[in-house]
Amino acid sequence: MSRLIIVSNRVAPISEGGPAAGGLAVGVYDALKETGGMWFGWSGDVLPSGQPRISVEERGPVTFATIGLVRRDYDQYYRGFSNATLWPAFHYRADLVQYDRHDFEGYCRVNTWLAQQLVPLLRPDDVIWVHDYHLIPFAKALRAAGVKNRIGFFLHIPFPASQVLLAVPPHRELVESLCSFDLLGFQTEPDLRSFCDYIVHEANGTADAPANGRPTTVQAFGRTLHAAAYPIGVYPDEIAELARAGESGKPVRTMRATLHARKLIMSVDRLDYSKGLVERFRAFERLLEQSPAQRNKVSFVQIAPPTRADMHAYQDIRVQLEGESGRINGRFAELDWTPIRYIHRQYERQVLAALFRASHVGYVTPLRDGMNLVAKEYVSAQDPDDPGVLVLSRFAGAAQELNGALIVNPVDIDGMAEALATALAMPLAERQSRYREMMAQLRENNVSVWRDNFMRDLQAAGSVEPVRKHAGVSLAD
Ligand code: G6P
Repeated sequence: MSRLIIVSNRVAPISEGGPAAGGLAVGVYDALKETGGMWFGWSGDVLPSGQPRISVEERGPVTFATIGLVRRDYDQYYRGFSNATLWPAFHYRADLVQYDRHDFEGYCRVNTWLAQQLVPLLRPDDVIWVHDYHLIPFAKALRAAGVKNRIGFFLHIPFPASQVLLAVPPHRELVESLCSFDLLGFQTEPDLRSFCDYIVHEANGTADAPANGRPTTVQAFGRTLHAAAYPIGVYPDEIAELARAGESGKPVRTMRATLHARKLIMSVDRLDYSKGLVERFRAFERLLEQSPAQRNKVSFVQIAPPTRADMHAYQDIRVQLEGESGRINGRFAELDWTPIRYIHRQYERQVLAALFRASHVGYVTPLRDGMNLVAKEYVSAQDPDDPGVLVLSRFAGAAQELNGALIVNPVDIDGMAEALATALAMPLAERQSRYREMMAQLRENNVSVWRDNFMRDLQAAGSVEPVRKHAGVSLAD
């Protein structure tokens, strides 16, 4: 059997149980720990100068091969083009896009360098699966180094509509680079459609309409490749077990004791401007404003660990959020009640799962999100006898699958306040039936199905017609 090589910028923490930064590290680690293989990526270290060296460490069936970045590469490739250009553009924030062509050169240079570091570790029958927007030119760089293996790519974040992508000056080079992969995976059908739209209308290529669950065949830039939507999942029963086990732990006992039987609304997000945190806080404020009966009866806990804290846009959103939570608390707090508990820190997965289980509402309202695994984790963690309600943004990829959620538009503050009120008052029978529907979906499309579907199509990508065998993931939604 071929060995699986995962390549991503961010690698899961090598010590088991440590908090992972973001959905990619969580999802990919869950997928890889079953099959085993190698995971190659950035160690997280930034070196002042010098020549970084690969460190190889085995943990169970997974070999971690990681390497540091020198300061200039970190600035141009990670902070610069990846996170100041691609991240805002791909999250539909053209207003925040910053572009510097030297950063783009650095981004391409680091991709080439990383690919060259990987080449000596490769075997001829390895299958290479590259993840996320940091590594769009990776296949092109591997091909230039003579690598003939199958190479697939999965984009964890949204793929924007063409008119938004055009805001990124080297959009054509990026899409051409994507066409060096054998298979492209997107989170949702709308992302796949946006990509195909660019191919047809901006790149003079073709993309056939997907039929019978087969990936779309794309022809552009002199290459033929395949593309499909593969919504990433979780292991819902593992998360349920984690949540049950964490229930008796100190953090949850402390939380319950301080709630004094008030209802709990829970949110967990990296502190990112794509997550819609300010709108979310304002909708909670609107709820308190319009429903005096809710005052002192409900607490909202927002856990928002720091992320990319050395970038201006992230410093700005932090200041804004701290202002909003202070203002809203100042307006409504009482001697024995703080409406919003805003916590700028990271917690372990088990604590979060147990807090989800202890809560009445999961409040997940990004302005844009590729998938949002927190939404899936929230549902998974619930007590089937007394489940909480998920309030979910229509702009999270997860909204394409989680039909039992209360779907909201995150800029509609009144609409979100109404959804919170509905969630807090929802009768048990309705909560249970929504939970059961979502849990069935999560079990059917768990993270192994995501991996197996992608790998099957990648293995088949060179042959005439790749076939998708799992019934769990449908291309028509
Ligand atoms: C999102 C991205 C990941 C990224 C994560 C954390 O989930 O899709 O690629 O790793 O955010 O961000 P960071 O910049 O800390 O890696």
